[in-house]
Amino acid sequence: MYLPTNHTDTTDYPAGSDISENDWHILAGFWHPVAFISELGEKPLPVRLLDTDLVIYKTREGSTAAKDQCAHRGAKLSLGWMDDDGNNVVCPFHGHHYNYQGACTKIPSYVDQNMPIPAKMRLTTYQSIERYGLLWVCLKDKPLRPLPEWPLLENHGAGWLRIEIPKGVWQASASRHCENFNDIAHISWVHMKTFGNRQRPQLADYKLERTGYGLHMELPYIEVERGFNDDSIGEREVWYTHDLTYPYATDLKVDYTEEMTSHFYDIASPVSAEETAIFQISLTNIPGATAEEYAQYQLVTNSEDIVVVESQRPQFVPLNPGMEVSIPADKFSIQYRRDLAQLFGLGQL
Ligand code: FES
Ligand SMILES: [Fe+2]
Repeated sequence: MYLPTNHTDTTDYPAGSDISENDWHILAGFWHPVAFISELGEKPLPVRLLDTDLVIYKTREGSTAAKDQCAHRGAKLSLGWMDDDGNNVVCPFHGHHYNYQGACTKIPSYVDQNMPIPAKMRLTTYQSIERYGLLWVCLKDKPLRPLPEWPLLENHGAGWLRIEIPKGVWQASASRHCENFNDIAHISWVHMKTFGNRQRPQLADYKLERTGYGLHMELPYIEVERGFNDDSIGEREVWYTHDLTYPYATDLKVDYTEEMTSHFYDIASPVSAEETAIFQISLTNIPGATAEEYAQYQLVTNSEDIVVVESQRPQFVPLNPGMEVSIPADKFSIQYRRDLAQLFGLGQL
Protein backbone atom coordinates (compact mmCIF):
# COMPACT_ATOMS: atom_id res chain seq x y z
CA MET A 1 0.00 0.00 0.00
CA TYR A 2 2.89 2.37 0.70
CA LEU A 3 6.41 2.54 -0.63
CA PRO A 4 8.80 2.62 2.34
CA THR A 5 10.01 5.99 3.59
CA ASN A 6 13.55 5.19 2.48
CA HIS A 7 12.45 4.05 -1.00
CA THR A 8 14.22 5.47 -4.02
CA ASP A 9 14.07 4.22 -7.60
CA THR A 10 17.44 2.65 -8.29
CA THR A 11 16.75 0.85 -11.56
CA ASP A 12 14.77 1.49 -14.70
CA TYR A 13 13.81 -2.17 -14.88
CA PRO A 14 10.00 -2.15 -14.75
CA ALA A 15 8.43 -4.04 -11.88
CA GLY A 16 6.42 -7.06 -12.97
CA SER A 17 8.02 -7.34 -16.42
CA ASP A 18 8.12 -10.81 -17.99
CA ILE A 19 11.36 -9.85 -19.71
CA SER A 20 14.26 -11.09 -17.60
CA GLU A 21 16.30 -8.36 -15.97
CA ASN A 22 19.37 -9.46 -17.95
CA ASP A 23 17.56 -9.28 -21.28
CA TRP A 24 15.82 -6.02 -20.40
CA HIS A 25 19.06 -4.15 -19.75
CA ILE A 26 20.48 -5.40 -23.06
CA LEU A 27 17.39 -4.68 -25.16
CA ALA A 28 17.05 -1.25 -23.52
CA GLY A 29 20.44 -0.43 -25.06
CA PHE A 30 19.13 -0.64 -28.65
CA TRP A 31 17.17 1.93 -30.62
CA HIS A 32 13.54 0.93 -31.11
CA PRO A 33 10.86 2.80 -33.07
CA VAL A 34 7.84 3.85 -31.01
CA ALA A 35 5.73 5.82 -33.51
CA PHE A 36 5.49 7.13 -37.03
CA ILE A 37 6.30 10.84 -37.04
CA SER A 38 3.02 11.29 -38.89
CA GLU A 39 1.20 10.21 -35.68
CA LEU A 40 2.79 12.99 -33.61
CA GLY A 41 1.73 16.58 -33.27
CA GLU A 42 -1.59 17.52 -31.82
CA LYS A 43 -1.60 15.41 -28.69
CA PRO A 44 0.89 13.69 -26.41
CA LEU A 45 0.78 9.95 -27.15
CA PRO A 46 1.17 7.00 -24.80
CA VAL A 47 3.46 4.22 -26.01
CA ARG A 48 4.98 1.26 -24.24
CA LEU A 49 8.49 0.01 -24.90
CA LEU A 50 9.96 -2.93 -22.99
CA ASP A 51 7.19 -2.60 -20.37
CA THR A 52 8.10 1.05 -19.84
CA ASP A 53 5.24 3.50 -20.27
CA LEU A 54 6.37 6.50 -22.25
CA VAL A 55 4.74 9.71 -23.35
CA ILE A 56 5.89 11.08 -26.67
CA TYR A 57 5.14 14.59 -27.82
CA LYS A 58 6.30 17.04 -30.40
CA THR A 59 6.93 20.72 -29.75
CA ARG A 60 8.33 23.31 -32.15
CA GLU A 61 11.79 22.44 -30.79
CA GLY A 62 11.49 18.77 -31.63
CA SER A 63 10.08 15.50 -30.40
CA THR A 64 10.51 14.14 -26.91
CA ALA A 65 10.18 10.74 -25.27
CA ALA A 66 9.74 10.72 -21.50
CA LYS A 67 8.49 8.44 -18.78
CA ASP A 68 4.70 8.80 -18.74
CA GLN A 69 4.68 10.04 -15.18
CA CYS A 70 4.43 13.59 -13.97
CA ALA A 71 7.20 14.66 -11.58
CA HIS A 72 4.60 16.21 -9.27
CA ARG A 73 2.15 13.47 -8.30
CA GLY A 74 2.72 10.83 -10.93
CA ALA A 75 -0.25 11.36 -13.25
CA LYS A 76 0.08 10.25 -16.85
CA LEU A 77 1.15 13.09 -19.12
CA SER A 78 -0.32 11.22 -22.07
CA LEU A 79 -3.78 12.07 -20.66
CA GLY A 80 -2.86 15.73 -20.99
CA TRP A 81 -2.54 18.02 -23.99
CA MET A 82 -0.19 20.45 -25.73
CA ASP A 83 -0.41 24.12 -24.71
CA ASP A 84 -1.76 26.69 -27.15
CA ASP A 85 1.69 27.57 -28.46
CA GLY A 86 2.58 23.92 -28.97
CA ASN A 87 5.70 24.39 -26.81
CA ASN A 88 4.79 22.37 -23.73
CA VAL A 89 2.94 19.28 -22.71
CA VAL A 90 0.40 20.03 -19.97
CA CYS A 91 -0.29 17.60 -17.13
CA PRO A 92 -4.02 16.86 -16.79
CA PHE A 93 -3.89 16.83 -12.96
CA HIS A 94 -2.60 20.25 -11.84
CA GLY A 95 -1.57 21.75 -15.17
CA HIS A 96 2.19 21.74 -14.82
CA HIS A 97 3.82 22.53 -18.16
CA TYR A 98 6.92 20.67 -19.43
CA ASN A 99 9.02 21.68 -22.43
CA TYR A 100 10.75 19.49 -25.01
CA GLN A 101 13.64 18.86 -22.61
CA GLY A 102 11.22 17.67 -19.94
CA ALA A 103 11.84 20.74 -17.75
CA CYS A 104 8.86 22.24 -15.94
CA THR A 105 8.18 25.74 -17.25
CA LYS A 106 4.98 26.63 -15.42
CA ILE A 107 3.20 25.77 -12.16
CA PRO A 108 -0.25 27.33 -12.46
CA SER A 109 -1.05 27.10 -8.71
CA TYR A 110 1.80 29.53 -7.86
CA VAL A 111 0.28 32.87 -6.86
CA ASP A 112 3.52 34.55 -7.88
CA GLN A 113 4.57 33.17 -11.25
CA ASN A 114 8.10 34.47 -10.57
CA MET A 115 8.61 31.94 -7.80
CA PRO A 116 11.37 29.52 -8.75
CA ILE A 117 10.42 26.12 -10.06
CA PRO A 118 12.20 23.26 -8.25
CA ALA A 119 14.98 21.87 -10.44
CA LYS A 120 13.74 18.34 -9.73
CA MET A 121 10.34 19.16 -11.23
CA ARG A 122 11.26 17.57 -14.56
CA LEU A 123 10.33 14.51 -16.53
CA THR A 124 12.59 11.52 -16.95
CA THR A 125 13.49 11.82 -20.62
CA TYR A 126 15.12 9.34 -22.95
CA GLN A 127 17.22 9.68 -26.07
CA SER A 128 15.05 9.95 -29.15
CA ILE A 129 15.69 10.62 -32.79
CA GLU A 130 13.55 11.06 -35.88
CA ARG A 131 14.68 8.96 -38.83
CA TYR A 132 12.98 7.24 -41.76
CA GLY A 133 9.68 8.82 -40.75
CA LEU A 134 9.84 7.11 -37.35
CA LEU A 135 10.57 8.24 -33.82
CA TRP A 136 13.24 5.96 -32.33
CA VAL A 137 13.92 5.72 -28.61
CA CYS A 138 16.81 4.27 -26.64
CA LEU A 139 16.19 3.74 -22.94
CA LYS A 140 19.90 3.75 -22.10
CA ASP A 141 22.29 6.69 -22.27
CA LYS A 142 24.71 4.89 -24.57
CA PRO A 143 23.16 2.92 -27.46
CA LEU A 144 24.77 -0.46 -28.05
CA ARG A 145 24.44 -0.16 -31.82
CA PRO A 146 23.64 2.67 -34.24
CA LEU A 147 20.34 2.95 -36.10
CA PRO A 148 19.96 0.84 -39.24
CA GLU A 149 21.64 2.38 -42.29
CA TRP A 150 19.01 2.58 -45.02
CA PRO A 151 20.22 5.30 -47.40
CA LEU A 152 17.63 4.63 -50.09
CA LEU A 153 14.78 5.04 -47.61
CA GLU A 154 16.30 8.27 -46.38
CA ASN A 155 16.92 9.73 -49.78
CA HIS A 156 14.95 8.10 -52.56
CA GLY A 157 14.30 9.90 -55.80
CA ALA A 158 11.00 10.69 -57.43
CA GLY A 159 10.96 7.29 -59.13
CA TRP A 160 10.09 5.60 -55.84
CA LEU A 161 6.75 5.45 -54.06
CA ARG A 162 7.02 5.40 -50.23
CA ILE A 163 4.22 3.68 -48.34
CA GLU A 164 3.68 3.65 -44.58
CA ILE A 165 1.81 0.54 -43.53
CA PRO A 166 -0.56 1.13 -40.59
CA LYS A 167 1.13 0.07 -37.36
CA GLY A 168 0.36 -3.47 -36.22
CA VAL A 169 0.37 -4.97 -32.74
CA TRP A 170 1.15 -8.68 -32.54
CA GLN A 171 0.71 -10.85 -29.49
CA ALA A 172 4.09 -12.40 -30.08
CA SER A 173 7.67 -11.70 -29.11
CA ALA A 174 9.76 -9.43 -31.31
CA SER A 175 12.16 -12.26 -32.17
CA ARG A 176 9.37 -14.59 -33.28
CA HIS A 177 8.14 -11.83 -35.60
CA CYS A 178 11.63 -11.08 -36.86
CA GLU A 179 12.39 -14.73 -37.58
CA ASN A 180 9.11 -15.05 -39.45
CA PHE A 181 9.88 -12.02 -41.59
CA ASN A 182 13.19 -13.61 -42.55
CA ASP A 183 11.87 -17.16 -43.00
CA ILE A 184 11.48 -18.31 -46.59
CA ALA A 185 10.22 -21.87 -46.13
CA HIS A 186 6.92 -20.64 -44.67
CA ILE A 187 5.96 -18.65 -47.77
CA SER A 188 4.71 -21.66 -49.71
CA TRP A 189 2.43 -22.60 -46.79
CA VAL A 190 1.25 -19.42 -45.17
CA HIS A 191 0.85 -16.96 -48.02
CA MET A 192 -1.88 -18.59 -50.04
CA LYS A 193 -3.88 -15.39 -50.50
CA THR A 194 -0.86 -13.43 -51.65
CA PHE A 195 2.41 -14.62 -53.21
CA GLY A 196 3.02 -18.11 -51.75
CA ASN A 197 3.51 -20.98 -54.17
CA ARG A 198 2.37 -24.32 -52.76
CA GLN A 199 3.89 -26.08 -55.77
CA ARG A 200 7.38 -24.83 -54.90
CA PRO A 201 8.13 -25.72 -51.29
CA GLN A 202 11.74 -26.80 -51.81
CA LEU A 203 14.39 -24.42 -50.61
CA ALA A 204 17.86 -24.69 -52.10
CA ASP A 205 20.84 -23.92 -49.92
CA TYR A 206 21.02 -20.15 -49.68
CA LYS A 207 23.64 -17.48 -49.13
CA LEU A 208 23.88 -16.24 -45.55
CA GLU A 209 26.59 -13.91 -44.30
CA ARG A 210 27.27 -12.08 -41.09
CA THR A 211 27.76 -8.34 -41.51
CA GLY A 212 28.89 -5.57 -39.19
CA TYR A 213 25.27 -4.79 -38.38
CA GLY A 214 23.58 -8.21 -38.56
CA LEU A 215 22.86 -10.79 -41.23
CA HIS A 216 22.65 -10.76 -45.01
CA MET A 217 20.74 -13.43 -46.94
CA GLU A 218 19.99 -13.86 -50.64
CA LEU A 219 17.95 -16.37 -52.54
CA PRO A 220 15.50 -16.80 -55.42
CA TYR A 221 11.85 -17.76 -55.01
CA ILE A 222 9.13 -18.45 -57.52
CA GLU A 223 6.17 -16.42 -56.35
CA VAL A 224 2.61 -16.87 -57.42
CA GLU A 225 1.10 -13.73 -58.82
CA ARG A 226 -2.56 -13.53 -57.87
CA GLY A 227 -4.82 -10.96 -59.41
CA PHE A 228 -6.25 -8.50 -56.92
CA ASN A 229 -9.74 -8.42 -58.33
CA ASP A 230 -9.89 -11.64 -60.29
CA ASP A 231 -8.77 -15.27 -60.03
CA SER A 232 -5.85 -14.99 -62.42
CA ILE A 233 -2.73 -16.83 -61.37
CA GLY A 234 0.77 -16.70 -62.80
CA GLU A 235 4.32 -17.42 -61.64
CA ARG A 236 7.26 -15.07 -61.44
CA GLU A 237 10.80 -15.74 -60.29
CA VAL A 238 11.98 -13.05 -57.90
CA TRP A 239 15.19 -12.47 -55.98
CA TYR A 240 15.01 -11.82 -52.24
CA THR A 241 17.80 -9.94 -50.46
CA HIS A 242 17.41 -9.69 -46.70
CA ASP A 243 19.50 -7.36 -44.55
CA LEU A 244 18.86 -7.64 -40.85
CA THR A 245 20.14 -5.01 -38.45
CA TYR A 246 20.23 -6.40 -34.95
CA PRO A 247 18.09 -6.98 -33.13
CA TYR A 248 14.80 -6.56 -35.05
CA ALA A 249 15.09 -4.37 -38.16
CA THR A 250 15.00 -5.88 -41.65
CA ASP A 251 15.30 -4.44 -45.14
CA LEU A 252 13.83 -7.01 -47.52
CA LYS A 253 14.57 -6.15 -51.14
CA VAL A 254 12.57 -7.95 -53.78
CA ASP A 255 13.85 -7.73 -57.33
CA TYR A 256 11.06 -8.61 -59.75
CA THR A 257 13.07 -7.68 -62.85
CA GLU A 258 16.25 -5.69 -63.37
CA GLU A 259 14.19 -2.53 -63.38
CA MET A 260 11.43 -3.34 -60.91
CA THR A 261 12.25 -3.52 -57.22
CA SER A 262 10.43 -3.14 -53.92
CA HIS A 263 11.86 -2.76 -50.43
CA PHE A 264 9.93 -3.87 -47.39
CA TYR A 265 11.38 -2.34 -44.23
CA ASP A 266 10.14 -4.12 -41.13
CA ILE A 267 10.99 -3.22 -37.56
CA ALA A 268 9.66 -5.11 -34.56
CA SER A 269 9.49 -2.96 -31.45
CA PRO A 270 9.15 -4.92 -28.19
CA VAL A 271 6.20 -3.57 -26.20
CA SER A 272 6.62 -6.37 -23.67
CA ALA A 273 7.88 -9.95 -23.68
CA GLU A 274 4.86 -11.15 -25.62
CA GLU A 275 3.59 -8.09 -27.43
CA THR A 276 5.27 -6.36 -30.33
CA ALA A 277 4.52 -3.22 -32.31
CA ILE A 278 5.25 -3.69 -36.01
CA PHE A 279 6.45 -0.74 -38.09
CA GLN A 280 6.64 -1.28 -41.82
CA ILE A 281 7.51 1.04 -44.68
CA SER A 282 7.63 0.01 -48.32
CA LEU A 283 9.39 1.58 -51.25
CA THR A 284 8.66 0.55 -54.79
CA ASN A 285 9.56 1.71 -58.25
CA ILE A 286 6.93 -0.43 -59.96
CA PRO A 287 5.15 1.85 -62.40
CA GLY A 288 1.52 2.47 -61.57
CA ALA A 289 1.72 1.15 -57.99
CA THR A 290 -0.60 2.97 -55.62
CA ALA A 291 -0.09 3.45 -51.90
CA GLU A 292 -3.57 2.17 -51.03
CA GLU A 293 -3.18 -1.04 -53.01
CA TYR A 294 0.30 -1.66 -51.65
CA ALA A 295 -0.69 -1.10 -48.03
CA GLN A 296 -3.73 -3.34 -48.44
CA TYR A 297 -1.60 -6.14 -49.91
CA GLN A 298 0.89 -5.85 -47.04
CA LEU A 299 -1.91 -5.97 -44.47
CA VAL A 300 -3.30 -9.15 -46.03
CA THR A 301 0.21 -10.63 -46.00
CA ASN A 302 0.59 -9.72 -42.33
CA SER A 303 -2.78 -11.23 -41.48
CA GLU A 304 -1.57 -14.52 -42.93
CA ASP A 305 1.58 -14.46 -40.79
CA ILE A 306 0.05 -13.23 -37.57
CA VAL A 307 -2.16 -16.28 -37.01
CA VAL A 308 0.79 -18.63 -37.13
CA VAL A 309 3.31 -16.46 -35.30
CA GLU A 310 0.92 -15.74 -32.42
CA SER A 311 0.41 -19.51 -32.09
CA GLN A 312 4.11 -20.29 -31.59
CA ARG A 313 5.13 -21.70 -28.23
CA PRO A 314 7.14 -20.85 -26.33
CA GLN A 315 6.44 -17.23 -27.15
CA PHE A 316 10.06 -16.43 -26.36
CA VAL A 317 12.50 -17.61 -28.99
CA PRO A 318 14.55 -20.37 -27.37
CA LEU A 319 18.25 -19.52 -27.49
CA ASN A 320 19.14 -23.04 -26.41
CA PRO A 321 19.66 -24.78 -29.79
CA GLY A 322 18.44 -28.07 -28.35
CA MET A 323 14.96 -26.80 -27.57
CA GLU A 324 13.59 -26.81 -31.12
CA VAL A 325 14.45 -29.11 -34.01
CA SER A 326 16.08 -27.35 -36.94
CA ILE A 327 16.32 -28.23 -40.64
CA PRO A 328 18.59 -26.88 -43.41
CA ALA A 329 16.06 -24.16 -44.30
CA ASP A 330 16.60 -22.70 -40.81
CA LYS A 331 20.12 -21.51 -41.49
CA PHE A 332 19.06 -17.91 -40.89
CA SER A 333 17.31 -18.43 -37.57
CA ILE A 334 20.04 -20.70 -36.27
CA GLN A 335 22.62 -17.94 -36.82
CA TYR A 336 20.23 -15.27 -35.54
CA ARG A 337 19.71 -17.09 -32.25
CA ARG A 338 23.40 -17.83 -31.88
CA ASP A 339 24.25 -14.16 -32.37
CA LEU A 340 21.62 -12.88 -29.95
CA ALA A 341 23.18 -15.06 -27.28
CA GLN A 342 26.85 -14.72 -28.17
CA LEU A 343 27.12 -11.13 -29.40
CA PHE A 344 24.80 -9.50 -26.91
CA GLY A 345 24.40 -11.93 -24.02
CA LEU A 346 20.64 -12.33 -24.41
CA GLY A 347 19.06 -15.37 -22.84
CA GLN A 348 21.50 -15.54 -19.91
CA LEU A 349 20.16 -15.73 -16.40
S1 FES B 1 0.42 15.31 -11.07
FE1 FES B 1 1.02 16.46 -12.78
S2 FES B 1 0.71 18.47 -12.22
FE2 FES B 1 0.23 17.38 -10.42
FE1 LIG C 1 5.24 -14.32 -44.01
